[in-house]
Amino acid sequence: MPHTPRLATLIHTMSDLSRIGVAIDSGLLAKFDALIAERGYSNRSEAFRDLIRDELVEKAWESPNATVVGTVTLVYDHHVRLLNEKLTGLQHDHFHSILSALHVHLDHDNCLEVLVVRGKAAEVRRIADALISTKGVKHGRLTVTSTGADL
Ligand code: NI
Repeated sequence: MPHTPRLATLIHTMSDLSRIGVAIDSGLLAKFDALIAERGYSNRSEAFRDLIRDELVEKAWESPNATVVGTVTLVYDHHVRLLNEKLTGLQHDHFHSILSALHVHLDHDNCLEVLVVRGKAAEVRRIADALISTKGVKHGRLTVTSTGADL
């Protein structure tokens, strides 16, 4: 007779989901439902999971040695003297951490750059701060995300 796994083991193998009950104020839940509907979630579960993952990503970034991924967005006028050279120099100084760079010529003067950065959280922040604070950068932002491995 072939070996048959016990039902509990089989269910565990098929799915590692836990179900939880959450007590929540009705007014707050109504606002949450309206928010997630606006954002296109088809159910609360996926919205809750995303909120939790977002908090976990934020928490990971608080650990200086955690390996993280982020994007740095920069908008600048390429006519500003030596700005292109400074930004390119900074990127070459950190070529191990900067995985990719996208450059868009927005109009005659303005450029948009999006850099993908991976490394230790503290180092990625340092690189982003250095780029964003460079004189002549009109707007810059670091978007923090995850390698996805721990989510
Ligand atoms: Ni350009």
